[in-house]
Parts: sequence; structure tokens; C-alpha cells
Amino acid sequence: MTNKSQNLIKILPFNFIVFGGDGDLAYRKIYPALFHRFADKQLKMEFNICCITRTSNNESNIMASIKTFIEASIDYEIEKNVLEEFFKKIKVIVITKPTIEEYRTLQEFIDNTSERQNVYYLSTPSSAFGVISSMLKKAKILNKNSKVVLEKPLGFSLKSSKEIQTQITKSFSESQIYRIDHYLGKETVQNLMVLRFANHLFEHSWSSEDIDSVQITVAESLGVEKRGNYYDKSGALLDMVQNHLLQLLCLIAMEPPTKLEAESVRNEKLKVLNSLRMFNDKSVLTQTARGQYSRGKINDASVPSYLEDIDNYESNTETFVAIKAFIDNWRWKGTPFYMRTGKRMAKRYSEIIINFKSVRHNVFDANEEIPGNKLIMRLQPEERIELVQMTKLPGPGGYRYRPISLKLDYVDSFEERFPEAYERLIIDVLRGQQTLFMHQKELEAAWKWIESITNSWKKTGMKNILYHAGSWGPGDQIMNEKHKWSKSNKNDIETI
Ligand code: BG6
Repeated sequence: MTNKSQNLIKILPFNFIVFGGDGDLAYRKIYPALFHRFADKQLKMEFNICCITRTSNNESNIMASIKTFIEASIDYEIEKNVLEEFFKKIKVIVITKPTIEEYRTLQEFIDNTSERQNVYYLSTPSSAFGVISSMLKKAKILNKNSKVVLEKPLGFSLKSSKEIQTQITKSFSESQIYRIDHYLGKETVQNLMVLRFANHLFEHSWSSEDIDSVQITVAESLGVEKRGNYYDKSGALLDMVQNHLLQLLCLIAMEPPTKLEAESVRNEKLKVLNSLRMFNDKSVLTQTARGQYSRGKINDASVPSYLEDIDNYESNTETFVAIKAFIDNWRWKGTPFYMRTGKRMAKRYSEIIINFKSVRHNVFDANEEIPGNKLIMRLQPEERIELVQMTKLPGPGGYRYRPISLKLDYVDSFEERFPEAYERLIIDVLRGQQTLFMHQKELEAAWKWIESITNSWKKTGMKNILYHAGSWGPGDQIMNEKHKWSKSNKNDIETI
């Protein structure tokens, strides 16, 4: 069963203009995403890609890097010549300064007279968004077919995110703005919607009546790599929770939208964000934990501490955060949503666990509590869904039971290649579908809640707890005994 109407939206011919076109994100994600959609014959229409760089005399190196990254991303057979055909569509343009003259060089590339859509992908620090969008306007190269894609972080506070919005909306209207959060393009995240809204079984018990708690974990074994400058200003809370984890929380907690279209979905997510209980100086101490990695071992190799990684021994930036959040609405009253994320953790994995309540009474042994069912959605590294249920151990000797997991492994169940999140989201931009992109109101509501944490951290002077690289961080202290993270990490559930 497919939703055919989505597939029917035609993609108009397009120009794809990437600011920050020689940056890490563009090389690793944007060009490969466009290439794979092209190789899959989804982009049969005319199109061009323009990589904007600020460095002159470097065009051939940039083209070489684009090729290297695309080639490295190919893990299936491709038709002969498809790479060459794709590379012919890419042009590197140098804009060293924000002047009208320099921006006008784009005019050659952008044919405003045709029905082509022009997508401006701003893969730059958000401090550049205002200048770029105003220069595009001043150089008179925007039209009704223009769209702008904004990469996170969208500011570093509610105030700065509002300022960005004021600047951007001088050149683009809200319907032309696509605020990207690549977590919403992940297959399992989208499957969460199908699981919830296409299965009566789950939707029926999707509330605090039946759900004891929800855990959202995004653990990374990598450190801050070469992004220390940026990361030290944001930390785990702003880098991951403000966007990715909150968006996951919204999809789990929102009411069913009337239709799977932008306005309905965004409205429901916004209601969730507005119902998040704000933190204060008291609750922040017992319901959040923050940590920073010290030296340790990942896969048996020694790795430096965060302070060594960024070469700044004063930094109090958190590389780990755990939060016990509550949503004050009818559906979720009293159900804690535990979120945690960190760098340099024991391994890379992301998952959502829905912990169902235990049965009311244990008929096998009234003195013992039977652990509740769990619905586990694993986002990465492998994508799968598990339903953990109690099962009788075979054989005589009374009723002995154990948690056993029914497992749906995506890779084993479907033969198709799994498109990367960016592939899906870029196609949505080209089709003009904003459902998986955040509205400014969502962003502001998220910032308000995040600031209730950062302000309380500041006021209480809450310090980081050091954790060894390669461990699970300090999050357990805010969890209830039943659902300590260290327990769920043990993987002690058998699967069938
Ligand atoms: C980015 C963060 O948004 O997401 C990075 O800035 C993080 O710090 C990355 O590593 C994680 O994405 P993924 O898809 O690898 O889980």
C-alpha cells in the first residue's frame, strides 16, 4: 500500500545553489544526495547545481572533492556514464564579498525568465543567512519560484533565532522557507508515523494510561572532530536536543493530524512544544544531567578528552545531556520523556523506547511485578523495530517467563536501497512539501523551553559531570530504578 498522491507531485526543472558549497556538509550530504536521486532516475528533468565558494582559484580542487565524496558514497551498481552526466551539471561560482556585482554573477546561472525553480541552500553559519538573503534580493535574482533551505543551528537563542527570521523574511515568505532537520528524513522516523497512525493496536494505547515512560537516546561514539569552534558555542543541548531530539519527541507525542500535510502536522507538533513543562532552578537540578567527556577508550583505542580536542582547558560546554521532560496535556500527564544524547559514548546508536505499563496483577506470582512491554524503534546504526513481550519458557516446571523480542529488521525485510535522510528531504523541497520541515513557530517554542534549561543551569551554576570517553555518561541519576539506561543498554532481551 502506498500513498500515491505524494508520488504524483511533479518536480519542476531547477537550479540548486549551495552557499557554503565547499563545506563539509555539502560534500558529505548535499551533493551525494542529489547524485543518488539522479542515479535513481528521479531527477529526469533539467537541472543545474551551483556550488558557491568564497575562495578563488580553487575551482578544480572543489570539483575533485565533490567527485571524491560522491564516489565514496556509492555502494551499489550504477549505469555507465551516470557520474559524468551528473558532474556536467555542476558549476563552481566564486563570490568573495557580499556585493551586488558579485551576486549578479549568479544571474548567468539563474534563468529567471523560465519556469525553473531556484533553490538556495544555505549551508553556512546562520550569521550569514541575513546577508545572503538580502544580497539575493538586492541583486534582483529572486522570484516567486525561489526557495531557501536553512541548515541548523538557527541561532543560539530565542532572540537570535527571531533576528534571523526577521532578516530572512525580508527576502522570502514563510512558504518559501525550508528549515531542515535531517532526523525527520530518516526512514525509521517516518515509519514512526506509519506505526502510530496506521496501526490501531498502538494508537489505542498511546497515552499515559498505558505508557509508563518514553526514552529517546541518540548516542555517538565520535567526538567533536573538526567542529570544535562551533560545538563549543552550542554544546549537546543546542546541537542535538533543541532540534533532533525535540522533533522526535513531537512525533511520538503529537495528536493524530487531520491529514499528513504541512499545516496539520506542524500545528500538532507545535501544541506538544507549547505543552512542555518549563524547567526552574529546582527541577533543573533533579531532572537534568550534563556531562563532558574526559580521556577514555573507544573500540580499544585511547581518545583524548573534550578539552584536549578543542584545546581550551576552561570550557564548561556539555558534550552529554540527559533530561526528564513532562508534557502537561491530557494525553501525557505524568509520563516522563527521558532524552539523552552525548558524544564519545560507548557506541553509536539511536533509539526510541516506549515502555508500556506492567500488567495490573501478576497471576503467576502476586509478589512479583511483570516487566511491561516495550516498543523499540532503532534508528541507527541498523533500522529496526522490536516489540518486547513476555513469553513462557518451553517445558514443564511451571510458568517461567522471559522477555522475548519480535523483531522487524528493515534491511532484511525490504530489498530496496535505503535513501539517506537528505535525499528524501531535498526531494521534498523540490516538490514544495513542507511537512517534514519546521515552522518558525515550532522553532520559537523549542527555544523557549530550551532557554528554561540554559537559564536555570546558569542561575544554579550547574557543572558538568566528567565521564570517560567510551562510557554511557552520567544520565542514570535522573531515571527511575525500573528504566535506568544502563539496564536497557545491556541488550539482555532475546529476539525471535
Ligand atoms: C548534527 C549535529 O545535526 O547531527 C552533529 O550537529 C551530530 O553534532 C549529527 O553528529 C548526528 O547526525 P546522525 O544522522 O549521524 O545521527
